[in-house]
Amino acid sequence: DGDGFVLDPEDRRTIEQERDHYEQPQAACIEALKIVQRRHGWVPDGAIVAIAEALGIGPAEVEGVATFYSLVFRQPVGRHVILVCDSSSCFLTGYDALREALSSRLGIGFGQTTSDGRFTLLPVCCLGACDSGPVLMIDDDTYGPVAVEDVADLLESYP
Ligand code: FES
Repeated sequence: DGDGFVLDPEDRRTIEQERDHYEQPQAACIEALKIVQRRHGWVPDGAIVAIAEALGIGPAEVEGVATFYSLVFRQPVGRHVILVCDSSSCFLTGYDALREALSSRLGIGFGQTTSDGRFTLLPVCCLGACDSGPVLMIDDDTYGPVAVEDVADLLESYP
């Protein structure tokens, strides 16, 4: 069942247009998930069902795509999402210290949201900025290399 989730009519139209661009409706799946997330901040179970209906594919297929992409959030997130790259280059250039600085500053670990709902902290695979490690992303902005002593100021710029 869809948990009562209803696609915004405009979003539904955009998703259907995306679907019609492709020979395989599956190809529009990631775009559809992004559209829902842009409006709701995350992708609830009901949205998986609604997207599947709009694309004419099975919910398990949509769920599979949603699970594969770490930038698709399947749980509620804070106002800002911090993604810390834990792939090889960043691991070698200071990932541990950066994660530690973020955790102690925010008082949360990976997968958690600050009690004021301001930040969610998550790990992410390579963000494609490996030359600038350690790299993190806050909302749509990528930063790197991020020095531990810059963490406080960086977080301050996301009220
Ligand atoms: Fe971190 Fe590629 S390994 S951005």
